[in-house]
Amino acid sequence: MFNVIFVCLGNICRSPMAEAVFKRLVEEQGLSYSFNVSSYGTSDCEQGNPVYPPAARVLKAKGYTFSHRARQISLKEIKNADYILVMDRSNYTSLISMAGVCYADKIYLLGHFLPEKIIIDDPWYTNDFDRTYTEIYASCKAFLEYLKSNHSKALNYDKFE
Ligand code: 4NP
Repeated sequence: MFNVIFVCLGNICRSPMAEAVFKRLVEEQGLSYSFNVSSYGTSDCEQGNPVYPPAARVLKAKGYTFSHRARQISLKEIKNADYILVMDRSNYTSLISMAGVCYADKIYLLGHFLPEKIIIDDPWYTNDFDRTYTEIYASCKAFLEYLKSNHSKALNYDKFE
């Protein structure tokens, strides 16, 4: 079982989108039993709030169902995670200052699983939620392919359960 955590600043736009996308990808590929997937923010600025409406609209239009309230990450979640996927460099720096460099080896920029190594910019400022979805979807697919290549023996396909 891999404990995968997506992290952004507020946990109302990018990381809940990534959580919904990655959950659906692993479900489609029969890998749900191999993953515990969640998302958090580095800040408590949106604590308790639902997915930001423009992000929720993009997800709903694509058939995703989700129930989500924003939460701030703590050292406990960082320690328990196998993979922490952040959206931009400021998310990375925030986690390192919270947890220390000893956890750096499990923190990855989600967009760096793509060959073009993108940063997933904050749609709170770009206002381009479709672009954010497209980037998150492509990056999550690439991340799952990475896991399948690197941990093939540890992944349990549902059909073999
Ligand atoms: P997110 O977007 O980090 O993708 O959830 C943001 C949400 C809220 C704020 C900034 C970014 N804010 O400043 O409140």
